[in-house]
Amino acid sequence: MDRLIVFDTTLRDGEQAAGASLNAHEKLEIAQQLDKLGVDVIEAGFPASSPGDFEAARLIAQEVKHPTICALASADIGSVDAAWEAVKEARQPRIHVFLSASDIHLSYQLRKSREEALKLSREMVARAKNYVDDVEFSPMDASRADLGYICQILEAVIDAGASTVNIPDTVGYAMPEEFGDLIQGIMANVPNIAKAVISVHCHNDLGLAVANSLEAIRRGARQVECTINGIGERAGNASLEEIVMALKTRHDFFDLSTNIDATQIYRTSRLVSELTGFSIQPNKAIIGANAFRHQSGIHQDGILKKAITYEIIDPRLIGIPSSTLVLSKLSGRHAFKERLAELGYSLSEEALNLTFRSFKELADKKREITDRDIESLVAEELRTVTEVYHLDHVEVSCGDHSLPTATVRLIQPDGRSLADAALGTGPVDAVCKAINRIVGIPSKLTEFTVKSVTEGIDSIGEVLIRIESDGVTYTGRGAATDIIVASAKAYMNALNRLLAAKGGRSGTKG
Ligand code: KIV
Ligand code: ZN
Repeated sequence: MDRLIVFDTTLRDGEQAAGASLNAHEKLEIAQQLDKLGVDVIEAGFPASSPGDFEAARLIAQEVKHPTICALASADIGSVDAAWEAVKEARQPRIHVFLSASDIHLSYQLRKSREEALKLSREMVARAKNYVDDVEFSPMDASRADLGYICQILEAVIDAGASTVNIPDTVGYAMPEEFGDLIQGIMANVPNIAKAVISVHCHNDLGLAVANSLEAIRRGARQVECTINGIGERAGNASLEEIVMALKTRHDFFDLSTNIDATQIYRTSRLVSELTGFSIQPNKAIIGANAFRHQSGIHQDGILKKAITYEIIDPRLIGIPSSTLVLSKLSGRHAFKERLAELGYSLSEEALNLTFRSFKELADKKREITDRDIESLVAEELRTVTEVYHLDHVEVSCGDHSLPTATVRLIQPDGRSLADAALGTGPVDAVCKAINRIVGIPSKLTEFTVKSVTEGIDSIGEVLIRIESDGVTYTGRGAATDIIVASAKAYMNALNRLLAAKGGRSGTKG
C-alpha cells in the first residue's frame, strides 16, 4: 500500500509559536515521545538560530534512534554547516535547506533577484549533499510564487542532490484546490521530479492547514510536515493528529497508510501541551476535551444504543484511557504504578516513590484521584528535576482588611537556605516579590493563568506563569491544591529556567 511520510516539526516550527520556549531536556522528552508515536522524521531545530537550538538538536540526534533527525538551515554556509554539526551523530541525519522563492520575499525582504536566489539554493543544497545523502529543500512562500520559477528551482536543487522537495504555504494563503493544483503543476512540469519525494508544509492563517495538506496528499504529495496540537508560528501549522486520523478514518477515500501508532496521540498531545504551556481548546478536533463528549439528549441516546451513531472515531484508538477507575487514599503503590503505566508513564524508581508520596498527600485532601490529577502530579514531579533554587516554604497572610504579606524560604544550590518577606498588592504579588528579594534577577511577568485540573472545589489548581528577561520568554508551571503555593512553584519554575539559561547565575544577596 502507498505510504505517507510523517515529518514532525513541533520542535522547530512548533516552538516558533509566540510564548513557547522549551529547554533541551524538554525537547528530548518530546522527541522520545514522537519516536513512540512513530513519526518518520523529527525536525529537531534550527541550529544556527541559537546555541540552545543547536544543543537541543545535537542531544536529540544522539539519543533518539528510530526516526530521521533533521536540522533546518537557511541558505548560507554557516547555517548549513551548523545544521550538519548538530545532527551528524544521528543514525539517519537530514539537512533541510530553505530560501524564499516568491517575488514578495525576494524583493522586499532578501533584495535578491530570482537568478541569485536560484544559484544560492543550488549551491547550498550541493554543500549539504557533501555532508549527507538525505537533503531536503524548501522554496519558502511557494504558494505565492510564480509556478514557472518554482519548477526551475526544484529542477536545479534535485539536480544538486535534494531527495525531498517541500512546498510550503508559508503564510497560510492558499485555498485547497489551488494548493492541490500547485502540487499537480509541479509534478507535471519538473522533469526530474521522480527523483524526489514531494512534501507539503501548510500554515493555518485561514484555518485551512489540514485541508490544504490533505488535498496535496490526494494529488500526490508523499511527505506531510505537521505539528502536535497544530502549534506553530502565528496561527500554527497543520495538526498531525488531524491529518493522521483523517487518513485512518477515511482510509476508503485516501487509501494511504502511515507509520503512526495512533494510540500514542493522546499522550503526545498532553505532553506537548504541558511542556509548552499551550492549553488545548475544548472543541479541538481529535484531542479537545469535548471531542468525545455528547451533550444533547438525542446524541446521548444514540451513543448508548450504538457508538457509531454519533462517533466516527473510537476514543480508545487515539489512546484516551478507557478505564474509569478512580484512585483514592486506600489505593496502594501497586495500583498507582499500574495506572501510571496505563497512562503511558514509565518513571524511574525514585520518581515513582516521590510521585506516590505526592499522590498520598493529595488523597488525604481529595476523595477521588482522577487521571488528570495523576498527570498533574507526574508533571509536577518531573519539573523539580531542573531546579536551581528549591522552594522550601511559603506562607502568606491576606484578606480584605490586611496587607498581603508573604514569607518564603528557598534552598540554594549549595544547600543553604535563604528566607525573606515582602508586601504586595495581593498574595501572589507578595510571594513573587519575596522570591525576587532572594533571587535578585530582574524579569517582567507577562502572563499568569490559573485553572483547575478537575471539577470540584477540592481540585488541584494548575498555574502557568510566563516571565520575560532580555527579550526571552520563560514559562513556569506549578500545581497544588493551594493556588498560592501553585503560583509560588510556577514562578520559581520560570525563574529556575531563566537561571539555567544564564548558566545558573543569580543576584542572590547572601
Ligand atoms: O513556513 C515555512 O515556509 C517554513 C519553511 C522553513 C519550511 O517553515
Ligand atoms: Zn513553517
